[in-house]
Amino acid sequence: MFSKPKQLFDHVEWRLNLKPRLADGTDLDWLNSPMDPHDASAWDQYWTEQVRHGLGPPLFDMFCDDRDLVEVMNSEGMTNVLCAGSGISQEPRALAQAGFEVIALDISPQAVEIARGFELPAEGFEYFCEPEMRRPGGHVDFVAGDILDSTVCPGPFDVTIERRTAQLYFNHDIGAVLGELAKRLGQDGILLSHCHDGGWKPPAEPQHLTQPWFQQNRWTIWNGGPGRKPPGRVAWLFTSTG
Ligand SMILES: C[S@@+](CC[C@H](N)C(=O)[O-])C[C@H]1O[C@@H](n2cnc3c(N)ncnc32)[C@H](O)[C@@H]1O
Repeated sequence: MFSKPKQLFDHVEWRLNLKPRLADGTDLDWLNSPMDPHDASAWDQYWTEQVRHGLGPPLFDMFCDDRDLVEVMNSEGMTNVLCAGSGISQEPRALAQAGFEVIALDISPQAVEIARGFELPAEGFEYFCEPEMRRPGGHVDFVAGDILDSTVCPGPFDVTIERRTAQLYFNHDIGAVLGELAKRLGQDGILLSHCHDGGWKPPAEPQHLTQPWFQQNRWTIWNGGPGRKPPGRVAWLFTSTG
């Protein structure tokens, strides 16, 4: 359980040649995501600060495990993926190494540049997927653009992944964000929505802030099993805590 973050910090130090410097000062405002989730320059500043303080892609990818998803994609003959609001994540690169056509889309040009410039070490792939899931023929494009602009990366995509992004619009217009992602999804596609509940404490159930939208819009919720993917579009909901 705890070996993963340790492994991740090792990666951070190794690739960015920076050590986390969380104790060097009392002002931790840089850890907070922007008040306005739609403010690209605030996100630029956010990501610059994360990297400057030694927090690199491996840390932000700590909840990404694509083993089940890749298995489903291969068995369903799915070929392309949109990673929306992907920040500096290396998940898009890992999915490309698994043989898929991937677009990583983020409103922050700075995040896109960091994500594009990061070198995913060979063993980095194995963080997301099993080694035997590596396939030739994949490709990744890193694109700066707005999910809310439907002309950007219009799709259709077999799979759209949003991690910890739509939930930021909970007090803005979460329906618009999820609606725009849904428009980019193919008719039999999977919309994977990952929400993080940082304030979770037992015995409460962790909150998944996008789930009500999927329920209200009568999506089939199918979290990768059991059995085969149901026909039509499905929402794959994943919650992390901590
Ligand atoms: C909390 S971060 C999550 C990043 C990444 N998915 C992860 O889990 O590490 C939210 C990301 O969404 C991006 N974002 C916010 N609103 C967006 C929008 N309308 N279009 C595209 N990206 C957006 C931000 O720039 C930021 O990188």
